[in-house]
Amino acid sequence: MNSGREYEVALILGDGIGPEISGAAVAVLEATGVSIRWREFAAGEAARQRHGHPLPAATLAAVRTIGVALKGPLLAPTQTGRLVVRHGDADVTYPSVNNALRRELEVFANVRPIRSFPGVPTPFSSLDVVIVREVTEDTYIGWEEMKGPDEAWAIKRITRQASERIFRFAFEYARARGRRKVTAGHKANVLNLTDGLFLESGRNVAARFPDLAFDDCMIDALCLRLVLGLAPGANIGARVAFFEAAHGAAPDIVGQGIANPIALILSGAMLLGHLGEAAAERRIWEAVARVLREGRHLTPDLGGHARTTDVTRAIIAALGRAEGVTGSA
Ligand code: NAI
Repeated sequence: MNSGREYEVALILGDGIGPEISGAAVAVLEATGVSIRWREFAAGEAARQRHGHPLPAATLAAVRTIGVALKGPLLAPTQTGRLVVRHGDADVTYPSVNNALRRELEVFANVRPIRSFPGVPTPFSSLDVVIVREVTEDTYIGWEEMKGPDEAWAIKRITRQASERIFRFAFEYARARGRRKVTAGHKANVLNLTDGLFLESGRNVAARFPDLAFDDCMIDALCLRLVLGLAPGANIGARVAFFEAAHGAAPDIVGQGIANPIALILSGAMLLGHLGEAAAERRIWEAVARVLREGRHLTPDLGGHARTTDVTRAIIAALGRAEGVTGSA
């Protein structure tokens, strides 16, 4: 049952395949019956062309005020994507537009539910984990320096405050969703002090959640145990949350109409859950699972011949008759 409320949600279409898959996600969210007033704002290449800056102050201010956004992927060129955001007299330099967006909006937790779907081949057939990534610290601060022409340094910054905040978030998220264990991924065998402090913070917070198990794992080993396929994502802070796919702008397939919209559609489902529309969120996950299981409407990345619009229509049709997977992120 939908609550009947109307929500205001900011929409950033994104670069590359962004507009194609954003249209798909909006159509699926609207098909749930949840009433949303979309407010579109520019970021990325579109904003650079129209407003001369990839992250206009008006976009940041609007997303801050609205508090919830659905975001398509943004191009972040390797090595040349640095940008400056003005704060009165003080300029802040960020390594990429995505980094700037997250840090300007103080969304410290990047949340990515990773689940295998029957019908989509994967080495792990029963994967169901949520990755919670801290995105305001570590090397994400983007503090770099050339030490002469042949040496470059990057600063890795870890604080107890941000570490405990992300662990608290992870434990509360796990508890609220009936999950059983939190695992800290780190490299404390090499980075004794920085990742050591991160791990110590995790252990301190874990002691306050005796109902949940806690362990840790070297990040290399953890990556080996995971595959990221159709992963959606959320970036959550105290006041703002925005939702985006784990993948990028896919410049190699832009405009061909074959982009897989599922990761952004599932990000939209997470957005509905965040707004309190848990039933609509679950219905979208179920509809996606059903379309994947049936295997008749798959885009080329999943071995099929369907177009973005075919997949979108199939998911909307399945929304009416969804059953199958349990729960949500
Ligand atoms: P990418 O994820 O855009 O593409 C990697 C490969 O996966 C490509 O072959 C692409 O065609 C395919 N792919 C990705 N999404 C797909 C979809 N929905 N359907 C079908 N195929 C899909 O990663 P890449 O090439 O490293 O990055 C391209 C641009 O996107 C860069 O500028 C990068 O910085 C940016 N990017 C932005 C992100 C964001 O906005 N959060 C995240 C990751 C990358």
